[in-house]
Amino acid sequence: MEQELEQLRDEALASLETVSDDAQLESFRVNYLGRNGQISAIMKQLGTVSKEDRPRLGQRANSIKKELEEAYSSRKTSLLPASQTAATDNPDLSLPGRKHQKGKLHPVTQIMEEVCGIFESMGFSIAEGPEIELDYYNFEALNIPAHHPARDMHDTFYISDNTLLRTHTSPMQARVMENQQPPLRVIAPGKVYRCDSDITHTPMFHQVEGLLVDQKVSFADLKGVLTVFTRKIFGKDLPLRFRPSFFPFTEPSAEVDIACVICNGEGCRVCKKTGWLEILGSGMIDPEVFKMVGYDPEIYSGFAFGLGVERIAMLKYGIDDIRLYYENDLRFLSQF
Ligand code: PHE
Repeated sequence: MEQELEQLRDEALASLETVSDDAQLESFRVNYLGRNGQISAIMKQLGTVSKEDRPRLGQRANSIKKELEEAYSSRKTSLLPASQTAATDNPDLSLPGRKHQKGKLHPVTQIMEEVCGIFESMGFSIAEGPEIELDYYNFEALNIPAHHPARDMHDTFYISDNTLLRTHTSPMQARVMENQQPPLRVIAPGKVYRCDSDITHTPMFHQVEGLLVDQKVSFADLKGVLTVFTRKIFGKDLPLRFRPSFFPFTEPSAEVDIACVICNGEGCRVCKKTGWLEILGSGMIDPEVFKMVGYDPEIYSGFAFGLGVERIAMLKYGIDDIRLYYENDLRFLSQF
């Protein structure tokens, strides 16, 4: 049997030398290395040899099989057309490399930074607060007691009886005023949550809250600050419109519209032919709120506003579905 093995090896290697195309190579493989090939056939006979010889012969058979397999695969590469082997053996170092894509800030983050930057240039400082908020700061301290109908406007995610995901950034008004004395100028950016989802609402979105308190602050100051802000963020002198509104924590309250950025107020699909787009809620701080944080409403006055960041980004970039921001599609995100 030993002789048989050596003979088979020599014969196989010699026949591999004569192989000159894929078909011949395949029949070599089937004949010698295949499941019913000659090597297998010899290995099957191992059972019949004596116990003393078996390990040695077994080892030899295995090493011959390995040797033939290696010879087979190096023959296979040498049969490949030159063009295919060249690429791996001699890469063309003059070819341009693959570029790595650079990451960027999310469009919402970009706008948020831009908004904060504009207010910082007007002397506001930045404050951040918790997203898991106490009912007290989200509602009570803002003059929205339990069972007040204004709570319905908010579609709140409750965590327990007295904790919730904040529905707006306004709780920061109370938190800041509790800890600081006027005069103060503060901006509070961050995530807010409401149980709501369609093309203009996502359950999580971003707001930027503004708060200014001092002596003799008037509605004219509010108008001035917001006018400068819209001019800077949209890069043009857009007319503003203050529409009477209601918030329990401001009196008087106003929603602010800007002339439609798309049609300049002519009337189009985006502004639903009205020529105006709503961008924020605002108002003079209600004396009740001042009383709760221990400020004397006879001495101090102030204003607050809250704007939706996604909304500003949509108007600035002409995006018509808010959900696009949160689908993580790089084709969308890499445009900004
Ligand atoms: N918090 C209000 C909202 O989310 C907006 C607002 C902020 C209104 C500050 C007045 C003053 O709708």
